[in-house]
Amino acid sequence: MDHFTFRDGKLFAEEVPVLEIAARFGTPTYVYCAATLRDHVGKLKEAFGKLSPRLCFAVKCCSNLSVLKVLSRAGCGMDVVSGGELYRALLAGVSPSDIVYAGVGKTVPEIRIALGEREGLEPVDRGGRGFQRLPEGPISCFNIESEQELAAIAEQARLMGVLANAAVRVNPGVRAGGHEYITTAHDESKFGLPVVQAEALVKRFADDKHVRVRGLHMHIGSSITQPELYVTAVERMIAMIDRLAEAGVVIESLDLGGGFAADYQTGEAPPPRRFAERIVPLLASRVAAGLKITIEPGRMVAANAGILLSRVLYTKQTGTRKFLIGDAGMQTLLRPALYEAFHFIWPASVAPQHEPKVRREHTDLPGLEACDVVGPVCETGDFLAQQRMLPPVAPGELLAIFAAGAYGMSMASRYNSHPLPAEVLVDGATVELVRRREVFADLVAHELGEF
Ligand code: LLP
Repeated sequence: MDHFTFRDGKLFAEEVPVLEIAARFGTPTYVYCAATLRDHVGKLKEAFGKLSPRLCFAVKCCSNLSVLKVLSRAGCGMDVVSGGELYRALLAGVSPSDIVYAGVGKTVPEIRIALGEREGLEPVDRGGRGFQRLPEGPISCFNIESEQELAAIAEQARLMGVLANAAVRVNPGVRAGGHEYITTAHDESKFGLPVVQAEALVKRFADDKHVRVRGLHMHIGSSITQPELYVTAVERMIAMIDRLAEAGVVIESLDLGGGFAADYQTGEAPPPRRFAERIVPLLASRVAAGLKITIEPGRMVAANAGILLSRVLYTKQTGTRKFLIGDAGMQTLLRPALYEAFHFIWPASVAPQHEPKVRREHTDLPGLEACDVVGPVCETGDFLAQQRMLPPVAPGELLAIFAAGAYGMSMASRYNSHPLPAEVLVDGATVELVRRREVFADLVAHELGEF
């Protein structure tokens, strides 16, 4: 569900015509709807309500500070995977006690920030709005991915005289996810530890005086449409919790990760309640007995809360293909190039007969033609869609690329020296530029140029 709707052939973001947004802020531009973000958080909370889970938004999927603030105000904590994401979450005012930290390659400086060090982390002066103080204190939980990482955290906690809380990321041996690159819990994955190793580690560190390991974590993949994959994984986690209890170690928290699919085509993803229906019964009695649950959704919350606006620069008809060449390409939205991901694309202004009823490939409307929607980057892989049926589009027209709110801007690059796009947040009839478009000077801002 989202808040992007066609009215009389014009696309609106909540109450705002996107043509106005493009005219005001230029293109390419990401546009997010606060209402959709809040709506998705509400749906997840309602669906999983019986488990009273802590909902930690996966910052990696959409890390704009203003988006994080909307989500934090809606009651989300944050799931981070780097010092940079941790910094963003802190800057957005999220309490460290609502932050969990995963990732296979945590460095010593990153670990120290997570343990509460703020030295050298000057809050930036953001556009004259004054300096913000970063919230103090250590994060809620490190999600540990290897024994050496655990040792590194223990060592820093000892040096800093604090106690770290940790969960071991378990790899429950499930192959789940919408693309090979986003499956994370199979036997050859770099993530987490196999059950036997994880169990041994928890036993050794359950009462450690520097890093107390009383939690389990899993994240089995992303873009998951089959609830039963969670069932298999959660059952394995529960069996592990029971074996540990027999060995005298009480597991206090279980983090189920994220992975719930989003609709890239209408109706593709089961709603949160379909996942919850299967997961909640497995865990309800455990929660009643004191187990704390965390979930880390990213895509389900943000994907349909964002679109990308691209201005068509040129069209080109060759012998076999019609190209729509826009200012957004793989530098702005990498997913089609990297995963051959489908994003619904449609002109932001169309004749009444071309208003799309659903977001999926159309062949039913009159006068459509097959187009390759491509960007300006010098790579053949720079496409947003291939052979897509679209209404006639002329140079200067605006295209909307849907479901771009997750893993869109956060994976954008400056490849071919294209400045990063702008980001705009809409809330009802309010429009705010929440990241200004980069200018050419930004491209070279960090180069020293002494040679
Ligand atoms: N927790 C952990 C530990 C994760 O690694 C991830 C995503 C999430 C939560 C959130 O997963 P979600 O709910 O968004 O599925 N760039 C890829 C997706 C990579 C996902 C990485 N991990 C894409 O564009 O499809």
